Formats: sequence, C-alpha cells, structure tokens
Amino acid sequence: MNRMTELTGTGVLAVPQGDLCVSPEGAADAIALSLIIPTYNEGKTVPLLIDRLTADLDRMLPKRYELIVVDDDSPDETWRIAQELTTCYSQLRVMRRTTERGLASAVIRGWQGARGAWLGVIDADLQHPPEVLLQLVAAVQDGADLAVASRHVEGGGVSEWSFTRRFLSRGAQVLGLLILPAVVGRVSDPMSGYFVVRRSAIAGPLLNPKGYKILLEVLGRGHIKTVAEVGYVFQERAAGESKVTWRQYVDYLHHLVRLRSRRRLERFRRQLPLRRFLQFVTVGFSGLFVDYSLFYLLFGQLGLGLTTSNVLSAECAIINNFLWNDAWTFADFAKRQRGWQARSKRFLKFNLICLAGLVLNTLVVNLLFNVFGVNAYVAKFVAIVAVTLWNFWVNLKLSWRVTQVPRQP
Ligand code: GDD
Ligand code: MN
Repeated sequence: MNRMTELTGTGVLAVPQGDLCVSPEGAADAIALSLIIPTYNEGKTVPLLIDRLTADLDRMLPKRYELIVVDDDSPDETWRIAQELTTCYSQLRVMRRTTERGLASAVIRGWQGARGAWLGVIDADLQHPPEVLLQLVAAVQDGADLAVASRHVEGGGVSEWSFTRRFLSRGAQVLGLLILPAVVGRVSDPMSGYFVVRRSAIAGPLLNPKGYKILLEVLGRGHIKTVAEVGYVFQERAAGESKVTWRQYVDYLHHLVRLRSRRRLERFRRQLPLRRFLQFVTVGFSGLFVDYSLFYLLFGQLGLGLTTSNVLSAECAIINNFLWNDAWTFADFAKRQRGWQARSKRFLKFNLICLAGLVLNTLVVNLLFNVFGVNAYVAKFVAIVAVTLWNFWVNLKLSWRVTQVPRQP
C-alpha cells in the first residue's frame, strides 16, 4: 500500500459509516484504532512521538492500529520527515494536504481516510503524553463511546502555566458552559484535543471544519452516550511553537454559537409532529369523501331533509376520521390507553372538538367575509386551514394525550 497520500481536493467533511474498508469492531486481525496526528511545523517532535506511540501500541494492539500524520504542507517539511519514518514504522501513514488548512479539518480528513473502528487524535508536539493513549483505548474497549484525556480530573493538570493563561483557558470553558451547557458540560475538559471516539458514534453528520476545538463538534453532533475521562498533565512544548492566535478565540465563540443554533433547530424539528399532521390531513380527506357520498345518498337519492342529511353524513365522517386516527395517526398513543372506556372517552372528546371546529369555521368565514370584506372562497379556504390546525392540535393535546401516571413502586 502507498503510505503517502497527497490530498488536493476539498469536498464534504463527514466520517463515513463502516464500509468494506473499515474493520468490524472486535475482528481479530482488522484495524481497531486509527490515531490522527495533525501537524504543522512539528518536524522536531514527530519522530519521537511516533516512536513512543508505536512502542505502546505494538504491545496493546499489535498490527491492529494505524497512525495517520495529516500535515498541511508545513514549511519545515514535517510531511517528508513523517514519510521517511514510514520505512521503519509499518503502521504509519501520511497525508499531505496542499489546498486545505486548519486543525479541525485535518483531523476530519484523517478520519475520512481511516480504517479503524475507533478514531483518535493527539497533538504532535508531545504536549499530550503518549502513554495516556492506552488508557483512552482501554476505556473505549470497555464500552465508552468517547474517552477524553482531561487536565481537570484526578491525575490531570498543566505544567507551568501563568495566571493569565489559566484564566483564559478557564474563561473559555465558562463561556462555553454558558452558551452551550448541554454539550460543554458533559466533559471536564471540553478544550481537549486528545481523545478516542467510536466511529459509529460520529459517522454520518457533516462536521464543521471551522472549529478549532474538534471535541465540541464530536460532542455536539455525534451520538455519544457514554463518556470516560482520563487525567493527564499538559506538558510544556519541547520544540516548535503553538499555532494558537486570537483568531482561535473568535472561531471558538463562533463555533459555540453555531452549534447552539443547530441544536435548537434540530430540537424544534423533532418536536414538530409533521408526520402525524400529514396523516391527520389524509384522514381528513377520507372524511370529506364519506361526508359527500353519504350526503348525496341521503339527500339526493333518499330525499331526506337537508339538515338531517347533513348532520348524519357529518357525524359518519367524524366516526370515520376517529377510527382512522385512532388506528393510524395516533396509534402509538391509543396503544397505551386500551379498553372500550378509554376509547369512548377519546371518541367523545374528538366529537366535541370537531364540533367546536365547526363553530370556529363559521366564525372565521363570517369575520373574514362580513367584517374584512375578503372573497367568500378565500375566506372559506382560510377557515378550513385554521380549523384543520385547530382540530389537529387540540386533538393531539386532549383526545390522545397520555397522562403520565407515576408508576407504583
Ligand atoms: N494539519 C494541521 N493544520 N495541524 C495543525 C494546524 C493546522 O492548521 N494547527 C495546529 N495543528 C497541530 C499542531 O501541529 C499540533 O500538533 C496540534 O495541532 C495542536 O496545536 P498547538 O498549536 O500545539 O495547540 P496548543 O498547544 O494550544 O493545544 C491546545 O489546543 C489543542 C488543540 O485543540 C490544547 O487545548 C490541546 O489540548 C489541544 O489538543
Ligand atoms: Mn501544543
């Protein structure tokens, strides 16, 4: 296999589900762990990091891991140094990107090309102690969806940070907690760039390449149920320099706000009972059919009076609608309230609400036509829409509502 890939394209950033190339979790000979090492001018530390990681992983997962250096065409030619290392380290691969830039997208590109069932990331500058990786992998092996190396749990810390640096780091975390508590609050060190996540937990959704803090993206968009944390001490940089500038703070804020609005939109979509509403409208149409045909039969053919025919056919339509809604639109609620008593109660409520709907219909038509001078057909159409919404919403909330009775212990 060619172990040096040059990436020139752009395209969507998302982690694929396990396909043919991805090893099933637990398979004896397949790649279990893919660890991404994003680099920009880290030529001095990369050889030592690879050596230490390999020593540990050869013991824990012999032949069942891959290390993927993703370099953004570093001026110090980190990619070339890494490529030369592939001759001594069989599990090492290198990606050299010439068009895209940035930490987060580098990590996601690495995961896109990875084969493992567990996807990880570690800084290349040795600020993340490599030996902690084994504990992260063990946690995922034991069932965690995500294992994060944290500076803020037992065994964790920072080396010689100034007051200002600690303050900025904690400040960013508090800000995160304020803007996005449900995501940031799930881990003690949301800024960590050292973690392992199960592929199945993040495969699918598009990931945002802008965020510098890829862990937020994983927590915010992935399906992470269980999280494990392992303490580590953030080491001082031995060589090279940090790429963090004020821009990353701005990006971080932007990232938080974007994640927040996305989550809100998703929650809103989830709560919007669109499927049910369409079913309700379909049933409504069937009712219209019942109403008209029966009316034609009673009034047109049998010669019954107008009001009698109308009331009878309308009531039959209501019964028709109730039966369909009970068996289809709201079947899940109906199942939780079985028995003829509960059913009759639902039917009665449905009837009353539809009756109220009829009154509402008349009111709206009159108001629009007589007071606002709206065209009669337009007025009728508006009334139908309004009454459909009314019927749906009130029936959803009243007729098929399931009262949560606390369970007896
Ligand atoms: N490919 C690529 N492209 N790699 C990058 C880029 C980039 O544009 N920018 C940074 N990196 C790589 C660096 O080479 C290094 O391996 C790693 O990403 C972290 O960058 P640093 O500049 O060393 O960041 P730090 O020391 O402030 O670390 C903080 O941020 C990290 C990333 O989120 C800490 O919070 C770490 O825990 C965290 O991992
Ligand atoms: Mn660093």
